[in-house]
Amino acid sequence: MPLIQCNYEQHAAAMLAMFNDAIRTSTALYEYQERSMTDMANWFANKHAGQYPILGIENDQGVLMGFASYGPFRAFPAFKYTVEHAIYVAADCRGQGLGEQLLSQLILTAEQDGRHTMIGAIDTNNHGSIALHKKLGFSCNGILPQVGFKFGRWLDLALYQKTLATPDLPVDG
Ligand SMILES: CC(C)(COP(=O)(O)OP(=O)(O)OC[C@H]1O[C@@H](n2cnc3c(N)ncnc32)[C@H](O)[C@@H]1OP(=O)(O)O)[C@@H](O)C(=O)NCCC(=O)NCCS
Repeated sequence: MPLIQCNYEQHAAAMLAMFNDAIRTSTALYEYQERSMTDMANWFANKHAGQYPILGIENDQGVLMGFASYGPFRAFPAFKYTVEHAIYVAADCRGQGLGEQLLSQLILTAEQDGRHTMIGAIDTNNHGSIALHKKLGFSCNGILPQVGFKFGRWLDLALYQKTLATPDLPVDG
């Protein structure tokens, strides 16, 4: 499946549906309230402002089946070589290798972008995402116990990290 760069006009509604499904039904997102199209507009604006990639995969009819992106890990300058990523596949498209394709390409994109570290912050009960990250060479370098509370229970957050060979010549400033 060819990968595309997502845009607000064509893809925001499908992305919103994936985010909101995750909010309603899972601990993939530590949020209670569904997002809106205004939130999506802000989301795209932030990605564009930071020149961050938004990779997607469409089906034959042009419907978005999944997407992956990254953004800042922590908003301080010396974290500039580290990114935190997110990946979502529509519920009826999972288990077909799309998540693996998206995350594999996101890793290549991060290397081309001169990044050094990718971080996935994953709820410890999100076994599918953890298995995907392990398969692509991420390792768990920390678990933060009881940092979230959703569905009436405490949530533990695992930090899955992959260190890249890039950039060739990291510099301050
Ligand atoms: C996590 C997610 C992106 C995986 O996408 P996917 O397209 O279903 O994954 P793939 O089909 O590409 O699977 C690739 C590998 O990931 C692992 N994997 C994916 N889903 C799995 C599951 N439910 N259980 C166990 N392993 C799983 C397997 O190792 C699999 O390789 P294999 O098929 O050779 O065993 C998808 O389930 C999703 O969008 N979930 C909801 C949102 C979410 O949790 N996002 C991540 C937030 S951190």
